[in-house]
Amino acid sequence: MAEVLGWEHEMKMKGCGVVLFALPFQGHINPMLQLANILHERGFSISIIHTRFNSPNTANYPHFRFYPIPDGLSQDYVISSDPNLIFAFIKFLNSNCQTPFRDCLSNLMSTASDPIACLVTDVLWHTTQAVADDLKLPRIVLRTSNVLSFLVLTSMSSLFPLQDSEAENEVPELPEFRFKDFSMFEASDPGGFVEFVDTVVQETKASSGIIYNSCEDLEEEYLTKFSSDFPIPIFLIGPFHRYFPASSSSLLPQDKTCISWLDKQQPKSVIYVSFGSVAGIKETELLEVAWGLANSKQPFLWVVRPGLVQGSKWVELLPNGFLEMVGERGHIVKWAPQQEVLLHPSTGAFWTHCGWNSTLESLCEGVPMICQPSFGDQNIDARFISHVWRVGIHLESKIERGEIEKAIRRLMVEPEGQEMRDRIELLKDKMNLCLKPGGSSYRSLDNLVTYMLSL
Ligand code: UDX
Repeated sequence: MAEVLGWEHEMKMKGCGVVLFALPFQGHINPMLQLANILHERGFSISIIHTRFNSPNTANYPHFRFYPIPDGLSQDYVISSDPNLIFAFIKFLNSNCQTPFRDCLSNLMSTASDPIACLVTDVLWHTTQAVADDLKLPRIVLRTSNVLSFLVLTSMSSLFPLQDSEAENEVPELPEFRFKDFSMFEASDPGGFVEFVDTVVQETKASSGIIYNSCEDLEEEYLTKFSSDFPIPIFLIGPFHRYFPASSSSLLPQDKTCISWLDKQQPKSVIYVSFGSVAGIKETELLEVAWGLANSKQPFLWVVRPGLVQGSKWVELLPNGFLEMVGERGHIVKWAPQQEVLLHPSTGAFWTHCGWNSTLESLCEGVPMICQPSFGDQNIDARFISHVWRVGIHLESKIERGEIEKAIRRLMVEPEGQEMRDRIELLKDKMNLCLKPGGSSYRSLDNLVTYMLSL
């Protein structure tokens, strides 16, 4: 309490606004707004600059001020699931938004009632470092994924493009990982990708610090290496979503019928299936997923996002008679209240694309996973889950109904699944403890607040 009063006092003395700028993807908006809430609870006043595209639902955050900036995108722009197009999109945003961002920030700095202590932007908004330098405002970056995946980016020029002959080889210093786990995606312009990554890394080194939605207990062994490569302050204060009840930053309406359907199922019997907000699958794969789930005989809750198969509206591509055949045993929605689903006692496993938010949300609820990563850090996350923490099964061969059925049985029925359940319970306890007084993230957040006030 004395410490809290200390901050309050210091904040009154110095003023304490923070400006945050998220990348407009669901998987990046969620942790940025969670971080904003965490900082707000510590007494900072919060201003959010955001693109018009995928703008957050401001009504859910009456305690923040929002400042939209033009982004050059049409209102009906749809983010592709092709990693090459996503990469091009992020580059486009960086160059298109730099000037509007500068104008907005400089205006905010001259008119804000609270002096602004610092700017927090997603690490991928690399053009904001030059703006921060010009305006003499310290910039701290938020990395929405884990430490290891960012360390891998620093070695990108040696890893990219990956030679086929090396793909399966273990990485000598990190034998749980293979070179292919670090390869991110097959770039159509490898040189352009490496150059982009290099810029992101350089602009991060030029920043005042880095915040991770991760915790020391998960990634202790990579921190020393990270600190020597990045001689800037680093704060692991995650998992962010555990600071408050379920998040309200969903861009799509969450279908609450999931919860009443889960209420009718047996404890730990349901397999929850979702591939996040961006990853896509082919039409043939959708059919294999459908038959794999049907043949497993387990109850399932499946998020079929509109556009999950490119161009699809929703479930029209499912085989004729499929929905009638599975009946009450399956529930399909466009978008779920994922954190509530994972918390529900009927949920027994999560078949996931291993986005970092999904991974953390599942770990924190002790739900073991079936991993089907698509690109980027998801490959690293999947390997963490299956080979480092050993709390899930990596579906590595092509998506095929027999393989799916086998994986579900291994996880839901066989002793191997119970062992994973036991291990993830231990991890869950660790994750929850790190946010409590004396825990690593708790301490790190204290340090972050003190640091922000000292800038
Ligand atoms: C992306 C990348 O894929 C991921 O690897 C990176 O770490 C962050 O950005 P995304 O693919 O959307 O994110 O996955 P993920 O990180 O898991 O984030 C999805 C978020 O949407 C989660 O917070 C999840 O709770 C939420 N969600 C997902 C829902 O609210 N409802 C759903 O039906 C599915």
